[in-house]
Amino acid sequence: MAVQRGKAVIDRDYTISRIDPRIYGGFIEHMGRCVYGGIYDPKHAEADASGFRQDVLAMVQELQVPMIRYPGGNFVSGFRWEDSVGPKAERPVRMDAAWKSIEPNEVGLNEFHGWADRAGSEVMMAVNLGTRGVEAAAQLLEYCNVKGGTAFSELRKKHGRTEPYDYKVWCLGNEMDGPWQICNKSAEEYGVLARETAKVMKRIDPSIELVACGSSSMNLPTFPQWDATVMELIYEQADYLSVHLYIDNKEDDLDNYLLKGIQMDRYIESITATCDYVKAKKRSSKVMNLSFDEWNVVPGNWKKNDVEPWTFAPALCEGNYSMADAVVFGNMIISLLKHSDRVKIACLAQLVNVFGPVMTSSDGTAWKQSVYYPYLHASLFGRGIAMNVQAEVPAVTTQHFTDAPMLDSVAVMDEQTGDLTIFAVNRSSSDALELSLELRGFGGEYTLCERLVMKHEDGGAYNSSTDQTRVVPEQLETVAVNHSFCTVELEPMSWNVLRFRA
Ligand code: AHR
Repeated sequence: MAVQRGKAVIDRDYTISRIDPRIYGGFIEHMGRCVYGGIYDPKHAEADASGFRQDVLAMVQELQVPMIRYPGGNFVSGFRWEDSVGPKAERPVRMDAAWKSIEPNEVGLNEFHGWADRAGSEVMMAVNLGTRGVEAAAQLLEYCNVKGGTAFSELRKKHGRTEPYDYKVWCLGNEMDGPWQICNKSAEEYGVLARETAKVMKRIDPSIELVACGSSSMNLPTFPQWDATVMELIYEQADYLSVHLYIDNKEDDLDNYLLKGIQMDRYIESITATCDYVKAKKRSSKVMNLSFDEWNVVPGNWKKNDVEPWTFAPALCEGNYSMADAVVFGNMIISLLKHSDRVKIACLAQLVNVFGPVMTSSDGTAWKQSVYYPYLHASLFGRGIAMNVQAEVPAVTTQHFTDAPMLDSVAVMDEQTGDLTIFAVNRSSSDALELSLELRGFGGEYTLCERLVMKHEDGGAYNSSTDQTRVVPEQLETVAVNHSFCTVELEPMSWNVLRFRA
């Protein structure tokens, strides 16, 4: 193994932004085995009285997810929210045309709220701007957020929930630019519908924040004109523009794949520039922030829609996340943090089974995939002020990237304690990186109190129900920090967490 050398400086003045905790959000959709057979499985030995699996809940709780987007995703574009409330025995079984699955409505808004509450998460609700529109969105908001005295708030009370849910963040539809979307729209059609829906929703509850649909992929021909047009129509009413990205290794080229976190940087920077173009055009002082409300890597061996249509809880979008996936995934988290001045909300899509960091199997087990750990580390140690890491390191060239730095990293300072955490990925599959670090301008001496690494000689190694700990973090020996300098070696293809104590 070759060892490359590089250096990096973190200066007390290199601050990016205070990180909005909602950047560690998640996503649960009525899709595949995310809800049914995932978080909810009443026949399972681990199910509680309301049918939710306690072992799965514990794994989600450990992640400290501040907010969970619900109930879709593509699902929301055909969703009749009224079907999912009231006595379970009276709820209809529906054909969910988004995923060609059977939706029994056994888990609905009230059950999900109870689960999210126990997970320690707020709910980020979505309204259907596919088959439905302003009226259904307004009535759902009334059901959720109005105290009482009106038809839908009283209906909620009748359903056993006295206090309003008071959901703060609402998605105005989902991926409405996508030809796969139920009632896919042009940017003009969507922009007008979203704006009119937003107007009514904010009259009902002025405290809510609204997320307008941005492009669902950089690869769609409508990107980024979609975003510009939608923003022009809804700049005053929206609070965030949504961004979605799933990174895959469809070229089956490991070295190229390991650099693909760069796609996320480019995407965020393009969308930010598009929003700022509209801001300038409107002579507005309002800054449009981003809600990266679907992001993930796609496991190499995933099965997309290789299932019988019109079945209940088919195994959609499931696969085993590898060591290489964990590095690219960690790099996506670093990208979100590097852009935390504009990305205020992000949702890992999704939390269980469907592209899930938590998996359940038919033999009844639940386990953590490789990507669970970078998410856990970032959520636990990545709260505070994001700081730039200025690095000089060797570059890598692959089929899609020229002279890309082999290292990507970001630092986070906990304002209360002064503790500093560096998240770093070594994106070379073959070479280690000996990195000289300087902590500049912090005053006082830091100690490196913890050093976590995820590495594996086999980039394809993954955890499974029968081998749950093949790719897990390890604690490495710490090294001395002398007058704010230290040197660490970052293994090839690794995710690293360096925790410095003030
Ligand atoms: O997360 C799976 C699906 O991917 C979501 O339903 C959709 O919004 C996206 O295309």
